[in-house]
Amino acid sequence: MSEPTLVVSKIRAGTVIDHIPAGRALDVLKIIGLSGREGTRTAIIMNVESKKLGKKDIVKIEGKFLGQHEVSIIALIAPTATINIVEDFKVVRKFKVEIPEVIEEIIICPNTTCITNKSNEPIKSRFRVLSRKPITMQCSYCSTLISEDDLYGLIKV
Ligand code: CTP
Ligand code: ZN
Repeated sequence: MSEPTLVVSKIRAGTVIDHIPAGRALDVLKIIGLSGREGTRTAIIMNVESKKLGKKDIVKIEGKFLGQHEVSIIALIAPTATINIVEDFKVVRKFKVEIPEVIEEIIICPNTTCITNKSNEPIKSRFRVLSRKPITMQCSYCSTLISEDDLYGLIKV
């Protein structure tokens, strides 16, 4: 017998962020700056079955269209995510998120003596992506390397 399916309404216009790794939907919303208090109609679907990922999360945001910066920072938390742009109930564009070459501010350097961690220095963190699969990033100030396993714990959300 097949599993019962979870039915969640389609949206009229806005963005569906699909194929988010299970359990990360709330972090995705946080990183794009949505708290829920904006009043935007949003559906958060967590830990549902996915053919590709086993389990996944989905976020549907009515009336919201993401900018380039928002799309690239989603990639840090949800590298498997697909962005679907919906208009008039139909998906009019679909693309995968992609990690940018340079990431500013979002990641905390794990080196406590790095200049970007000094509270009296107004310097934003800056990492260069050396490889994407697996992810390796390097701090532009102190050259500290971050691996894919470390990354999630170093993202400011
Ligand atoms: N979706 C929605 N409202 C719409 C159209 C689509 O909420 N008006 C959602 C669907 O529920 C799905 C996602 O947007 O979660 C992508 O829709 P679609 O491309 O139709 O689904 P799939 O073909 O299953 O997508 P994929 O191949 O990317 O897994
Ligand atoms: Zn550093």
